[in-house]
Amino acid sequence: MERYVIKGGNPLAGEVEIAGAKNAALAILAAAIMTDETVLIENMPDVRDTNVLLEAIQEIGAIVERVDKSRVKINGSTITNVSVDYEFIKKIRASYYLLGALLGKYKHAEVPLPGGCNIGSRPIDQHLKGFRALGASVEIRHGAIVTQAEKLRGSHIFLDMVSVGATINIMMAASLASGRTIIENAAREPHVVDVANFLNSMGANIKGAGTDVIRIKGVEKLHKAEYSIIPDQIEAGTFMFAAAATRGDVLVKNVIPKHLEATTAKLEEIGCEVKEFDDSVRVIAAGNLRRTHVKTLPYPGYPTDMQPQIAATLATATGTSIVTESIFENRFKYADELSRMGANIKVEGNTAIIDGVGRLTGARVSASDLRAGAALVIAGLAAEGITIVDDIVYIQRGYEDFEVKLRGLGAEIEKVSSEKEIQKFRLRVS
Ligand code: UD1
Repeated sequence: MERYVIKGGNPLAGEVEIAGAKNAALAILAAAIMTDETVLIENMPDVRDTNVLLEAIQEIGAIVERVDKSRVKINGSTITNVSVDYEFIKKIRASYYLLGALLGKYKHAEVPLPGGCNIGSRPIDQHLKGFRALGASVEIRHGAIVTQAEKLRGSHIFLDMVSVGATINIMMAASLASGRTIIENAAREPHVVDVANFLNSMGANIKGAGTDVIRIKGVEKLHKAEYSIIPDQIEAGTFMFAAAATRGDVLVKNVIPKHLEATTAKLEEIGCEVKEFDDSVRVIAAGNLRRTHVKTLPYPGYPTDMQPQIAATLATATGTSIVTESIFENRFKYADELSRMGANIKVEGNTAIIDGVGRLTGARVSASDLRAGAALVIAGLAAEGITIVDDIVYIQRGYEDFEVKLRGLGAEIEKVSSEKEIQKFRLRVS
């Protein structure tokens, strides 16, 4: 089992290049099978989640050709099977995007129900409500969602809650329905816009992505495209908080600063200087950080995927902060691990109350999910002494070359797979 071993205390300094957005990539790779022509995707992050989805796409018969680390060609003309194996869905929930993609193209999809996830219960009733509204039947058979239709017809759909996944899944299926679809109370996240732009580049007719009303005029079929995925706002934000927590000075490159506004605003509130350039942001954290309050919200609010990272940073600030999670009910699993590093953090319901302690101390901790894992790495980089983060398989789901990029900023972090390697690291850094 791989782990990270970190010697904390070095302020991060230098430049880091951000990869393509994982969450946009997952939807775009699924949508790429919706044409029989070849699609070239660029700026694809080379992370576990996208690699598993590519395997799933290959498994149903599509041709997947890796051009290089960040480029892939997909051809969906050879798909023979609309039934996705449980093996994939249990590894990545987002293989549910194959439901919308296959239903749109073949009017039939069979995808196992995504299992429980460790950030709380994550129903997909809104996705299914959307498919039904488009005229598809939806049944659960032997643990799988089976959805099919003679013909998909455009519809007026009002989502009961703002859901990124449901918005994208419905957008994909509706692109190949007959007539017009309107999605109200749609998610406005940058990756919803990116997926809409990608579908449009394949000939779809989607308007309004980025607002809460998306209008789709169905088309007969989609065609080939070449498309570059937007930068990952969560990876960027993670490095921004790593700079803050270590009192560093980091230029985060290949970003869209507009997508980072909620994160930037919080960093400024806690006493960092953030300079925005065309496609980069520089975070300078000199001296003490101050407390703040933050509540996660759908975009353009503060992202739930950046909640653990700000909490780890606030654990090192002066004063009492309140972090409220309003999207997922079980997203404070890292709190006990941070406490083991000396943080003063108390969770009550969907709120964490954090009394900043200035300096954390290294400990052996375990990642419970992707972003919690990133937060523990941030804490380890800021802490005094050695931190070992177990279960980094979660972190590898969404961060490309995480430890390599951090080392480039002066961090002492290594990926190890045995106790012996941990000892070697200890000797080297002591
Ligand atoms: C996506 C992101 C995830 C991010 C989340 C919120 C991907 C692959 N994942 O997840 O990283 O944390 O958006 O920004 O892009 N809900 C329902 N019924 C549904 C759908 C959602 O009740 O049918 C609820 C969820 O339980 C949650 C809220 O709606 O409380 C938002 O979920 P949603 O936006 O759908 O998250 P995901 O698309 O799964």
